[in-house]
Amino acid sequence: MKVKEKDYLMPLEVSGYKFRNNFVVGSGPAVKTLDMIKQIEQWGWGGASLKLSIDPTYISKPPRYRWLKKHRYHAFTAETRLSLDQGLKLMEEARKNVSELILYANMAYAGDEGDEGWVRMAKKYEAAGAHVIELNMCCPNMSFNVQSSGGKTAIVSGASVGSNAQIVSRCASAVKKAVGIPVFVKLTPEGGKIGQVARACFDAGIDSVGGTGNRLAIPDFDIYNPERGICRLQDEPTLACFSGPWLKPLALRDVYEMRKNSLPQHVVMGSGGIETGKDAVQMMMCGADFIQICTAVMLKGFGVLPKIVNQVKRFMDEKGYRNYRDFRDAVVSHISPTDSLTLYRGNAVIDDEKCTGCGLCVNIGHCYAISLKDDKAVVNPQDCTGCSTCIDICPAGAVSMEQFEKMI
Ligand SMILES: Cc1cc2nc3c(=O)[nH]c(=O)nc-3n(C[C@H](O)[C@H](O)[C@H](O)COP(=O)(O)O)c2cc1C
Repeated sequence: MKVKEKDYLMPLEVSGYKFRNNFVVGSGPAVKTLDMIKQIEQWGWGGASLKLSIDPTYISKPPRYRWLKKHRYHAFTAETRLSLDQGLKLMEEARKNVSELILYANMAYAGDEGDEGWVRMAKKYEAAGAHVIELNMCCPNMSFNVQSSGGKTAIVSGASVGSNAQIVSRCASAVKKAVGIPVFVKLTPEGGKIGQVARACFDAGIDSVGGTGNRLAIPDFDIYNPERGICRLQDEPTLACFSGPWLKPLALRDVYEMRKNSLPQHVVMGSGGIETGKDAVQMMMCGADFIQICTAVMLKGFGVLPKIVNQVKRFMDEKGYRNYRDFRDAVVSHISPTDSLTLYRGNAVIDDEKCTGCGLCVNIGHCYAISLKDDKAVVNPQDCTGCSTCIDICPAGAVSMEQFEKMI
């Protein structure tokens, strides 16, 4: 493996730690052994969030994954979690073997002792050498999945905790008071209030909040065999945990909402569908300081990092930015409410030379402004609403928009 230091350095300092860059391998199957953690260090990542440990052990099964390339999502239905003892042992070994990598203990309590259970786990991780405690209040594949699928459980864990601002901030603040290392919280958008939950965490003194973990959804299935799921070596269909490029627009929104509800000095993490430098820049422009990547690492390996960092650096050089803080939030203040948009009058126009007369634009269901004359599309400007669907469906690039004055 040849990776030069200059390929991954984009340093930042958070909560007293020097991160080599803002990229962290997100907790998941690529962070569950010492060998993986050593590779993460060698490839230059800023941090690694170790595979989730749950105490007491709860829903830990052999992994069942699908990568639906065409649909651009990864879906998992079953996953192996670490026990607390396994997680602590991995943390101890990892700490002895890394010199620059910042190690997160991704942990969730699933017993009946409430906040005290979380505190006890966090203290053990601190003693085991964790740099950061990352409270997993995001995983939808625990009690949240059971309840959403009509099952019954008395356990409240992962996304079931994370959707409640009061419980999250009370528990996170109990952990924060009990340990001397930074406490990060990975939140869920389930509950629809990720911004408010983030704010409650910051008000409680939490060092960083982040999202999005996986989203629970129904993956593609065979309509001739609806009783079967899509995972190999598994019978029934289940709600699955979605990640990968499909998730990015939702994750960008979550980051935006967390940033809008926090102060500039607050540290926000974004995760979901990041696989290129452009994705990462967009995430930072929506307000992220840190970026966690899981699916792209699973599918392409740890070597995705230098490429992503180089792409970000190239963008920064082009724009004359010296630090990611120069463009973090760049889009946040520009996002306008839908009731105050600046719109222009205008209509579609056809380039006769490019139009092949295929008729796709004529078939649009919501618009009757276009007809075919002599095998060419013709727009009636009076009927054109300016929506621009015809531009997006034209395979020949023959349609464009003529823009007139601002609408009042
Ligand atoms: C198979 C798999 C296992 C995961 N396990 C964990 C976990 O143990 N803890 C956690 O906080 N997030 C977990 N995640 C969520 C990822 O860390 C990440 O936040 C999410 O997948 C979105 O990012 P991505 O699109 O880059 O994968 C897991 C994701 C996948 C795909």
